[in-house]
Amino acid sequence: MTDKNRVVIFDTTLRDGEQSPGATMSHAEKLEIAGLLDEMGVDIIEAGFPIASEGDFEAVKAISKQTKEAVICGLARANFKDIDRCWEAVKHAKKPRIHTFIGTSELHRAIPNLTMDEMADRIHETVSHARNLCENVQWSPMDATRTEWDYLCRVVEIAIKAGATTINIPDTVGYTAPNESADLIRRLIAHVPGADEVVFATHCHNDLGMATANSLAAVEGGARQIECTINGLGERAGNTALEEVVMAMKVRHDIIPFTTGIDSTKLMNISRRVAAVSGFAVQFNKAIVGKNAFAHESGIHQDGMLKNAETFEIMRPEDVGLSETNLVMGKHSGRAALRSKLSELGFDLGDNQLKDVFVRFKALADQKKEIYDEDLIALMQVGSDVEDRIKLVALQVSCGMDLEKSAEMSLSIDGQTHSTRQTGDGPVDAAFNAVKALFEHSARLQLYQVSAVTEGTDAQATVSVRLEEGGKIATGQSADVDTVVASVRAYIDALNRLLVRREKSGGDLAEVSYKDAG
Ligand code: KIV
Ligand code: ZN
Repeated sequence: MTDKNRVVIFDTTLRDGEQSPGATMSHAEKLEIAGLLDEMGVDIIEAGFPIASEGDFEAVKAISKQTKEAVICGLARANFKDIDRCWEAVKHAKKPRIHTFIGTSELHRAIPNLTMDEMADRIHETVSHARNLCENVQWSPMDATRTEWDYLCRVVEIAIKAGATTINIPDTVGYTAPNESADLIRRLIAHVPGADEVVFATHCHNDLGMATANSLAAVEGGARQIECTINGLGERAGNTALEEVVMAMKVRHDIIPFTTGIDSTKLMNISRRVAAVSGFAVQFNKAIVGKNAFAHESGIHQDGMLKNAETFEIMRPEDVGLSETNLVMGKHSGRAALRSKLSELGFDLGDNQLKDVFVRFKALADQKKEIYDEDLIALMQVGSDVEDRIKLVALQVSCGMDLEKSAEMSLSIDGQTHSTRQTGDGPVDAAFNAVKALFEHSARLQLYQVSAVTEGTDAQATVSVRLEEGGKIATGQSADVDTVVASVRAYIDALNRLLVRREKSGGDLAEVSYKDAG
């Protein structure tokens, strides 16, 4: 017997999340995140948009092959070419799903210039085609919440008749509100013939900050699949945050009596990994996974917490996988201790990887006496599998009052070392000018963000740098006790990622339009 109150968690971090400008992940990073999602108990992983690029296709295929439990879903527009390509990638999964969509609101219908009837025919043909390939088919009327009610009912019915097994109702532009969200699903289930044979899903964007509330309201209205992303990553204001809907159902089970298969103690680790690989830091006051979500600053709160944690805590930090910050290691700690501590933090390393991390750990321990969990996490966030063409070899900056700010730098570019000295408005500016002088490029700096990993003046700085070139965006990250070194490494990391994107053949998400249904 199926549990009427079990809500399926559909994670789209690797598809809708990765679509946010600058959040591009490498192949290895996507595989890692998919592995963590599967281990955490996500029911369905939307692994990518296979037609979008060769890289997306390969990632969806590899995730399909590696995944043990979760259903693997790929996205396809409403045309046979997209759907066939999607199937080629997901067919390797134990449990594959094709997700096909088309924009059904008046505004979206105008883009492929289809009449209502022509679009209805297209939906019938493409969903039938997908169903002939795969028995698990999801269909989405994009911009459903702004689609005329009669037309929405008509196309949902067509998709069900053509064989869709899940009907997703996207609030593509984050326009709906909780009462409307619940009502829409409730009315669709009541009106559309065949609605009781499919699962209804909710897919909300957070433009008005209501994505979590709208998703939970849709469940109240009868949806049994929530589409969401880790940290709420996603275009514009993002998607519904997985950690928020999961914990809301858990903590307020008395009034939101639904369950999921998620092991919530894994939330913190996956949140950190997604932040690291996407380059999108989690805001400090973000619900559930923000740095301050369990921090109690004021005297009254601290006093209450010491007497009884429940005075100000509605969930325990352990419930989301947050352990107390410990002084963990120092320069005398050995390799075995490092391996065991990293494993506790969710990083299980092979021997080679451990060797590399150990060298960096020792270098950090020489600079910083006390090494905390956060320092180790930051250490893990540095370095990626991107085959770096550019590497920092040496850097010396001169700065201070009444002094010319300058940077002397050597970079290894494609194996050859080049050096320069450049000036700037400050040490970071001078150092970035040096990178530009040694490796000429037209990329524009979109974001430069520095934050301290722990307390104290010897804290490591984590730096995020986002670069844009010709519509392509890449974010780099680094951490170091020296803020200028971290800044330059982050800049070079972003540049290396941009070069990988530049070299990728075929179109990528920047070129493949979601609106192009044809
Ligand atoms: O927001 C949206 O409409 C989407 C669809 C592709 C499902 O992401
Ligand atoms: Zn979306």
